[in-house]
Amino acid sequence: MQRAHVYIRTPALSYPVVVGTRLSSELPALLDEAGFPPHVALITSAPLAALHAGSIEQAVQRSGRSVTRILIPDGEAAKSTESYLAALGGLTKVGSPDGTGILALGGGAVSDLAGFVAGTYRRGIPYAIIPTTLLAQVDSSIGGKVAVNLSEGKNLLGLFYHPRLVLSDVTLLSSLPARQLASGMAEVIKYGLIADAGLADDLERDADRILAKDADALASVVSRCVAIKAEVVGEDPYDDVAGSGRRAILNFGHTIGHAIEAACGYENLLHGEAIAIGMLAAVEISHRLGIVPRDITGRVKAALDRYSLPTRIDASMGCSIESIIHHMKFDKKFRDGVHRFVVLERIGSARLDARVGPELIREVLADRGAPRG
Ligand SMILES: NC(=O)c1ccc[n+]([C@@H]2O[C@H](COP(=O)([O-])OP(=O)(O)OC[C@H]3O[C@@H](n4cnc5c(N)ncnc54)[C@H](O)[C@@H]3O)[C@@H](O)[C@H]2O)c1
Ligand SMILES: [Zn+2]
Repeated sequence: MQRAHVYIRTPALSYPVVVGTRLSSELPALLDEAGFPPHVALITSAPLAALHAGSIEQAVQRSGRSVTRILIPDGEAAKSTESYLAALGGLTKVGSPDGTGILALGGGAVSDLAGFVAGTYRRGIPYAIIPTTLLAQVDSSIGGKVAVNLSEGKNLLGLFYHPRLVLSDVTLLSSLPARQLASGMAEVIKYGLIADAGLADDLERDADRILAKDADALASVVSRCVAIKAEVVGEDPYDDVAGSGRRAILNFGHTIGHAIEAACGYENLLHGEAIAIGMLAAVEISHRLGIVPRDITGRVKAALDRYSLPTRIDASMGCSIESIIHHMKFDKKFRDGVHRFVVLERIGSARLDARVGPELIREVLADRGAPRG
């Protein structure tokens, strides 16, 4: 079985992301190495607790630590301000004030909330993440961004706060619904496209094994994605738009994808589904700018199809070209009507391009089936 340790290095600290199978046996030693406190607040949702909390709690107890469960709402509802305050309330009742750390068990919604709680309670207490979705293993658990939502918008209340440890056990994905796995695959395909042509090839070759959740295939995919994000985050730890801009390439497919999510409604499309459409649109834009040949568009579409990801906006999604363009104007990288848009240079490499404006985006969205208006 594969086991990979990738280190995230930030100016302030360095910590391991351990990727593999059946990792709960290693949790006690890893908590010790991370200098984790004696009392552990396990933040998770009820469905995830029923599936996976028992073995994790036993492993924490084997390390000589006490563990108290704090249940939060499932899915995006975890990131409400009400849920944040309720979790803080639960935390005040755990252990001694100086000796408590948070362990987040769940997808990106749980770890975004748990990390925000950890970063703000008593000016910051240690935390660790056990991500349970593919998206969380390859993306949201890496990079230190934590946030809750306000009624005015997603992730408006947030900060950079890194965990001391990320334990990415691909065995936990065995219970993940196929649609959620596919949504995570959109991010995986993104890493192949922007940074690793070998990964892109393997995703095509090993699709059957990945879709069947073969543990070795998943561990290989997750560890390679984590390594890419770790490298990019290490170069641009605070997503500094004015700085190297390195982290911006992770936004490939996201400028249009985020706008599609917002315009079509978060209840209609999962994040990765919107990103899949956004990535294909970005590849098409790269082709129209003369950067990549036509056959690359076909290859990317085939890869997205292979993982059952959408590549078109159909009328039932309830969003028009103009509603998508409208939401794009809120993107923080939209400047003076011109996007610093991430284009594909070739399979395995992406860069920013300033030539992409709303007109080109409108044309490509129309090609993807989006209704005008
Ligand atoms: N911090 C970051 O850098 C970052 C990056 C990307 C996304 N995000 C955030 O992540 C969130 C989305 O995260 P997500 O896609 O992981 O979804 P999620 O956390 O909302 O989970 C989706 C659903 O899958 C279920 N689930 C999770 N793991 C499961 C398992 N192993 N078996 C069965 N069911 C399981 C959950 O109970 C939930 O119902 C969004 O809020 C987004 O803003 C954050
Ligand atoms: Zn994303």
